[in-house]
Amino acid sequence: MTTGSWFPSSDALSGAGGLSNAQLSPRAYGLPDERELAALAAPYFGDWGTQADSPAYAPSVVPLDAAPGRPQDQRAGEGRGAALPRVGGVPLERIRADFPILSERVEGKPLIWLDNAATTQRPRQVVDRLTYFYEHENSNVHRGAHVLAARATDAYEAARETVARFIGAPGPENIVFVRGTTEGINLAAQSYVKPLLAPGDEIILTLLEHHANIVPWQLIAQETGAVLRVAPVDETGQILFSEYAKLFNSRTRFVSLAHVSNALGTVLPVGEMTALAHSRGVPVLVDGAQSVSHMPVNVTALDADFFVFSGHKVFGPTGIGALYGKTELLEAAKPYQGGGNMISDVTFERTVYNKPPQKFEAGTGNIADAAGLGAALDYVTAIGMENIAAYEHELLTYATAELARVPGLRPIGTAAQKASVLSFVLDGYGVADVGQALSRAGIAVRAGHHCAQPILRHFGLEGTVRPSLAFYNTPEEVDALVKTLLALAH
Ligand SMILES: Cc1ncc(COP(=O)(O)O)c(C=O)c1O
Repeated sequence: MTTGSWFPSSDALSGAGGLSNAQLSPRAYGLPDERELAALAAPYFGDWGTQADSPAYAPSVVPLDAAPGRPQDQRAGEGRGAALPRVGGVPLERIRADFPILSERVEGKPLIWLDNAATTQRPRQVVDRLTYFYEHENSNVHRGAHVLAARATDAYEAARETVARFIGAPGPENIVFVRGTTEGINLAAQSYVKPLLAPGDEIILTLLEHHANIVPWQLIAQETGAVLRVAPVDETGQILFSEYAKLFNSRTRFVSLAHVSNALGTVLPVGEMTALAHSRGVPVLVDGAQSVSHMPVNVTALDADFFVFSGHKVFGPTGIGALYGKTELLEAAKPYQGGGNMISDVTFERTVYNKPPQKFEAGTGNIADAAGLGAALDYVTAIGMENIAAYEHELLTYATAELARVPGLRPIGTAAQKASVLSFVLDGYGVADVGQALSRAGIAVRAGHHCAQPILRHFGLEGTVRPSLAFYNTPEEVDALVKTLLALAH
């Protein structure tokens, strides 16, 4: 199996001059190119921080007016204090200025937020969007009732369209709003997969899964007598594709796999894994919790049957996320929660359900946060997910090399294809000790099992220290991390 086709390899990006923006063509991901993106963003090019007077909210997003640049080009020979790199055409200072919390001081030091795999920070465009909703649009979503109901419905449904565009779904009817990845996986498990299962049927997962992509399958396996099969990984933390292929048999009913491992940062070859499952007639759910903020995602190109992600991991609010499902699967699935909104007719004898996605959205949804999620996706779209992927990959390559200078530091997860995550253990220190030492230096990282105990135990560990990068992080922040660890290790 080759893995180079679905994501640029470390070699490609760290080689002579890195990959150009043209080579990282958004077209390759089935996304709009720079010109089309500029046209999409054009209505939002108003003054920074101002809001439209019109009740129809127009978010302020980063204009794509600057020339593309590469981080390493701008740092070469300039030394400390030089201008920060750009992400695509946008200077990093300008991006960081949009995230007020990045100017926070903790422990008397500037905050360095390297806990992005746990949650990301929100730009003020998202905070403004929530404020605007509550000040101008707040209502339940019953379009015909009155003016505010129409505004709230428009905001909610516009966010659904934004989510669909962002992940390349055919349309908004394929997007179910959920609380987050966890609820999305539970929904797919209970509504679609459970009714398919008989005793002895099999569900394939991978060793890299977050507990959110293990426990929901265990629950339905216990209820139905189905069995979980687990695809193993090699010593770098990448899937052993041939072993994965061997797991399929006539009892295989479903596959659920992470796009990016939250514990190791491994980018799984989900395109190839999905194609293989489909060749055996088996549908696939892709857990995109750790991919959507780091790389372009196109569910149609991936041919995923379901795809789930959480708003808070892609610069949006907590309590909102999305489940994408192919139309025929959403139609076949049974609702697992009943209530208002999800029905078209109710008598005491029987209920006629609404069409998807409303069929799965019982009760009042998280309307304001859906609008906030739409604003977050507009924000990163204006910068360009392909630009974010390219910048972050260079930062990850730089950080990986710098961390290797720390004596006694053992990286956990060294796959060729990685995103964001730099898990490690340090000789002579417990992971909590390292986490606390970093916290005293103002550096926020996660130290523990990251809700992924099976993969850490595979490496003989109960926990790691896990810095995780986002596109607003700087090489200087990586330097501060390494400096603190060097002081600890000596
Ligand atoms: C890969 C992966 N899947 C699922 C989840 C669960 O996400 P949430 O807690 O937002 O539902 C996470 C959270 O860290 C994750 O990293």
